[in-house]
Amino acid sequence: MRIDAIGRYPQYIPDLAAWHHAEWGPLYDDWTLEAATAELVDHATRTSLPTTLLLMDGDTLLGSVSVLIEDAPALQDRGSPWLGSLYMRPEARGRGGGRVLVDAAVAHAAREGVALLRLFTLWHEDFYAALGWQVAERTALHGTPVVIMSIVPAERVAHTGAPSSHG
Ligand SMILES: CC(C)(COP(=O)(O)OP(=O)(O)OC[C@H]1O[C@@H](n2cnc3c(N)ncnc32)[C@H](O)[C@@H]1OP(=O)(O)O)[C@@H](O)C(=O)NCCC(=O)NCCS
Repeated sequence: MRIDAIGRYPQYIPDLAAWHHAEWGPLYDDWTLEAATAELVDHATRTSLPTTLLLMDGDTLLGSVSVLIEDAPALQDRGSPWLGSLYMRPEARGRGGGRVLVDAAVAHAAREGVALLRLFTLWHEDFYAALGWQVAERTALHGTPVVIMSIVPAERVAHTGAPSSHG
């Protein structure tokens, strides 16, 4: 398994957008498949922020994670940027790929000089806590309880020994 930039694999954007839209579309009234696709097309134009990282096995796409300037507009007053759209294809789950993607996003944020990275989650608080994330706030998003969590990327990178600079 390896992490790669979405810009190297634009052919996977339609599949990825469909997965993301099927997973999270029901949470947002106005997030269409076209909007999900347009975000990923935009992410493929850069390797800084916002962007999407892919987990690949050879030429097979296993999953992805995004580092976003904005995730849910209603939570934007809490700060920026955000880890979002963590997704592993169902048949590849349970083998550590999700963890690899989260730490890759954190390492990417560290390289980009992000002081504090945030996320919100409905059901995966324990999963992120095991990766060093701390609960910042319990709130609601469109009436659904969510947990906002945060991490200091540089501290996590120092803890895991992940590369903190390009090259
Ligand atoms: C969440 C997701 C990315 C995890 O991917 P994965 O490849 O299965 O994750 P990993 O194999 O790296 O799991 C790492 C560990 O977290 C555990 N874990 C997974 N989901 C968990 C949860 N909701 N709560 C607590 N632990 C969890 C796994 O059991 C595993 O623990 P183990 O190594 O002790 O067995 C995947 O289930 C997914 O794509 N779900 C649908 C999209 C989604 O919900 N994304 C998260 C939005 S916040």
